[in-house]
Amino acid sequence: VSGKVYLQGNIVEPQDAKISIFDRGFLYGDSVFETLRAYKGKPFAQDEHLTRLFGSGERVGFELPWSRENIAAAIEKTLHASGLHDAYVRVIATRGAGLLGLDPGLATDPQLIVLVLPLPNLPAYDKGLRVRLVSVQRTSKRAVDPQAKTGNYLNSVLAMREAKEQGADEAIMLDRDGRVAEASAANVFAWVDDGWKTPPLDVGILSGITRQVILRLCKEQHIPVEEKVLWPQDLQRATEIFLCASVREIVPVVILDGASVGSGKPGEKTQQLRMLYQQLLAAQ
Ligand SMILES: Cc1ncc(COP(=O)(O)O)c(C=O)c1O
Repeated sequence: VSGKVYLQGNIVEPQDAKISIFDRGFLYGDSVFETLRAYKGKPFAQDEHLTRLFGSGERVGFELPWSRENIAAAIEKTLHASGLHDAYVRVIATRGAGLLGLDPGLATDPQLIVLVLPLPNLPAYDKGLRVRLVSVQRTSKRAVDPQAKTGNYLNSVLAMREAKEQGADEAIMLDRDGRVAEASAANVFAWVDDGWKTPPLDVGILSGITRQVILRLCKEQHIPVEEKVLWPQDLQRATEIFLCASVREIVPVVILDGASVGSGKPGEKTQQLRMLYQQLLAAQ
């Protein structure tokens, strides 16, 4: 395997990167993380990702014992050691190990782990995705708050499983009131009634960095965009839909629950945003 891992202060090979089975990240998903993409050896929007990482920790009562500078240095060191330029970067902070038991007070030796790996297979952007509205609900803000990016991804795993069982590539989850929330690991935008709409954060979704960048790009370019509650009917009448996330960037959705979105091909407005996003990356 190519790539490198930062573990306990050292750079190791991915196949040698092992931690305790008593680690709470393993036992309970009691960890927080970030996934970034590096372009030309530089992680995109690293500041925003680090801010969200600390924010996720706060939301679950895990005060990260590392400074931003420590974490930034670990990322840089791992990227450099990997020799990769365009790369997948994951930063994981686990609450650590300790005596078995759910009480977070039992945790000792929190771990900071950085993975730098070659990019995974990316979606076929010219083809687009088939997406399903799944019956698995997005977790409530009062359960595991979707705004905390924790290692507990079973909610998304179950959503993805249902989508795959139905022959789709991705899932879109609704909240308990039936409002559109987000995909398994991406935010949703839909062109409805002359503008882009994306669910507001208070529906209970992750505040995606890519989503934030797209909102800003649209405003700068005077492309109509709005954070607005979306219902399944809104997606059904949308002429374009896309998903967005750091590694996959902007991915057109062409089929929703077996029916074509718009023409059934990636739409022009999505293509325009993909171009603007590429221009922004090129200017980094
Ligand atoms: C649940 C969820 N929503 C949205 C996103 C997109 O976030 P970002 O644009 O910050 O990568 C992710 C990213 O993995 C995610 O896991």
